[in-house]
Parts: sequence; structure tokens; C-alpha cells
Amino acid sequence: DALTLPKDLLDFSGYGPKELLALLALAERLKKERYRGEDLKGKVLALLFEKPSLRTRTTLEVAMLHLGGHAVYLDQKQVGIGEREPVRDIAKNLERFVEGIAARVYRHETVEALARHARVPVVNALSDRAHPLQALADLLTLKEAFGGWEGIEVAWVGDGNNVLNSLLEVAPLVGLRVRVATPRGYEPDPLLLKRANAHFTHDPKEAVLGAHALYTDVWTSMGQEDEREKRLRDFQGFQVNGELLKLLHPEGIFLHCLPAHYGEETTEEAVHGERSRVFDQAENRLHTAKAVLLTLLK
Ligand code: CP
Ligand code: NVA
Repeated sequence: DALTLPKDLLDFSGYGPKELLALLALAERLKKERYRGEDLKGKVLALLFEKPSLRTRTTLEVAMLHLGGHAVYLDQKQVGIGEREPVRDIAKNLERFVEGIAARVYRHETVEALARHARVPVVNALSDRAHPLQALADLLTLKEAFGGWEGIEVAWVGDGNNVLNSLLEVAPLVGLRVRVATPRGYEPDPLLLKRANAHFTHDPKEAVLGAHALYTDVWTSMGQEDEREKRLRDFQGFQVNGELLKLLHPEGIFLHCLPAHYGEETTEEAVHGERSRVFDQAENRLHTAKAVLLTLLK
């Protein structure tokens, strides 16, 4: 049963429930089997990263190894996307060398341009607008915790950023409910909020009360370092700590895509505490990355 997906994974436009569920089922199977294979033997993935990474880079590299392929890491200092060389020229070179490109970029337009100009699949490894690989791991983690997504409520407390946008994109495809609390001025993409039929508030407690999961991310994303002082002020009252976690459903879990900025959006107690599924979530980045690469590069 060959699964056909759009050439690129920049976000989940072009995905319906069928495509998403098939990808997640594949990830589950790969995890269960601790899959190692030669499916991508001789194939190479270029990792074009303008920003740092622990999870995304490592899981993509390890996923390629587990599938019999190889990854080449290219950092911005060497490649100079849009500085040393225009993005179109980079795409036109890389498509001659490799079978796929995973790109972590500041501007979403950069992954769009790569996808447009390269004949090989392009995976968004995080842009200012979306983090699709993260959303896949989030869904797998929620399924493992609750057996499914239908009727499950996730409260997002914090910045209306790339990670939230991708969660809002996938949620309606699987029947997951999202409640969002951000400070004024930090709302996510309104169209995605609307499509997900998400409950929106500026009050963290209102979002969290009775929810099955509480999810947060840094207040200052990569590339926003200049805004840090202002953000620290604007996000007061939005920290995910023991007090907020108490408002969850009795079985409620805590999620964070990591890295964490302790003392800001969350505490060490929350990330390492009883309710935390943060490291399952991180592990699931590997299995979901494998499913994506297996499907797009095969
Ligand atoms: N969650 C995530 O994408 O982590 P990295 O920035 O370390 O890749
Ligand atoms: N919102 C964060 C996520 C990091 C994985 C960022 O963009 O820096």
C-alpha cells in the first residue's frame, strides 16, 4: 500500500486525514519494530541549517542511517544561503548531488524557494512559520498517552509560534482539540486557529483547566533574540509550572518541544516531573522522521 504524499513537507497543506494517519501509522510501526533497513541505500539527505539544533539534526541523521542512507550536514557559515549564494543556485546544485534536502531556515520563503527550484523532496526542518516534523512527534506522543486523538484536548500556553502553527494544522485532521492561551500580540496564524476551531483566550488557566495535555515552547524563538527583554515582560504569568499543571485533567501530561529556557516558559520540575512526556516526545522525533524520509525519499 504505497502512500503518495506531496513532493515536499513544508507544512501540511496538501495533507488530508488519510495521508497524515498513514504517516503516523508508519512511524508507530517503525518504532515498534525498532526498524533498521536498506530502503534508502545509497541515498543522501542534505541538511541545510541556518540555525542550531539538537533533536532535528540528530534524528534526521540517525533516521537516514537506520534506513541505510546517509546525511550531509551543511551549516550556514559554509553555505551562506542568500549571502554567499542565492537560494535558487543552492537548490540547482543540491538536486544534482542528493536525493533530498532538509532545511532549517529563518524565513519560510527560503524553504518554499528550495522546494520550487529543487527536483528532490524538501523537508522543512523548522522555519519562522512552521515545524511540521515536530507536530508529527507531538501527535504520536499524544496517541501513546491517550490511545488516540478524538476528543483529546491540548492546551497551548505561551507564544503563538511555528510549533503551535503546525499543531493547529494537524489537529483538525485527527480530531484533536486545541485550546490556546497567548499574551496579546503573540497570537498564532488566525486562519489556522479558525480551521482548527480552537478555543482562544489570553488567560492560561482558562486554557488549561481540565485539558489532557499542556504544551509550551520558548518565549523567544531562534532569530528573535533582539526582542528577548520585551518578551520576558509580555509573557509574565504564562510560565508552565506545578501550579498550572495542577489544573490539568487527573491523567494530564506535559509537553515541550525543547530546548527549554528554564525560569522562563517552564521549570526544571515540570520538564523532569511526573506528568512530563517531554522525552518521549523527543524520542518520537526519530520515529516520525524515519517515516517521513522513508516515504519521501524511497
Ligand atoms: N524540538 C526541536 O526541533 O529541537 P532542535 O531545535 O534541537 O532541533
Ligand atoms: N519556537 C522555537 C522552536 C525550537 C525547536 C524556535 O523557533 O526557536
